[in-house]
Amino acid sequence: MAKFVVAIDGGAGSGKSTTAKAVAKRLNFFYLDTGAMYRAATLKYLQCRGSTDNIDRALVKEIIKQTRIDLRQQNSENHVFLDNKNVTLEIRTHRVNNFVSPISAIPEVREWMVEKQREVAEGKNVVCEGRDIGTVVFPDAQVKIYMQADLKMRAQRRQKELDAKNIKADLDKVIENLKFRDKYDSSREHSPLKKAADAIVVDTTNITIEQEVDLVEKIVREKL
Ligand code: DC
Repeated sequence: MAKFVVAIDGGAGSGKSTTAKAVAKRLNFFYLDTGAMYRAATLKYLQCRGSTDNIDRALVKEIIKQTRIDLRQQNSENHVFLDNKNVTLEIRTHRVNNFVSPISAIPEVREWMVEKQREVAEGKNVVCEGRDIGTVVFPDAQVKIYMQADLKMRAQRRQKELDAKNIKADLDKVIENLKFRDKYDSSREHSPLKKAADAIVVDTTNITIEQEVDLVEKIVREKL
């Protein structure tokens, strides 16, 4: 069992990652980025299969059994390893963005991920972010936050993040991808993106990053 869990869910670009990372740092908690794990699995699939539009579900299920994904914190940076190779940057490309939602909707992929995520959190204090953290992965989390923000604002933030990683992205394309993923992630049959009944909603449309981090930190400290 994990010791203390802060579960942060929300749509793409809602500010979850920035907040989760910063709050984990301030509290000295482990930062568990579950989206990065789904992205790494998607990258592996694309490496095996190429970018053909139709997803070979049987291949995905086969691949996942032979995959190793590790989240490592080195020099206060978070790194994602796929089969022992650092793929931190590769998992953020357009190609991965376009395939990650359908691949993460496959029930066998989700079962594998949830098991891994609980394993990683074992015995730790964690800030865990994703889509189904407060509802499925850690339904007993001590703190549950649901983050949301206006679509255009989310797209602008995502574009800025990509820019910082030297990945050029057109704003319209970013908006399209966020819309597609929100729809796919909230309407899938297995563990869709939804607010847990006991989650606190944090709307980040009109607040700064500093304010959203302060707010979530305050909520957590009150529970600690
Ligand atoms: O948080 P992110 O944008 O890096 O997540 C990428 C995708 O992974 C997201 O569009 C859906 C999937 N995902 C998921 O299904 N469940 C999670 N807990 C986290 C991410």
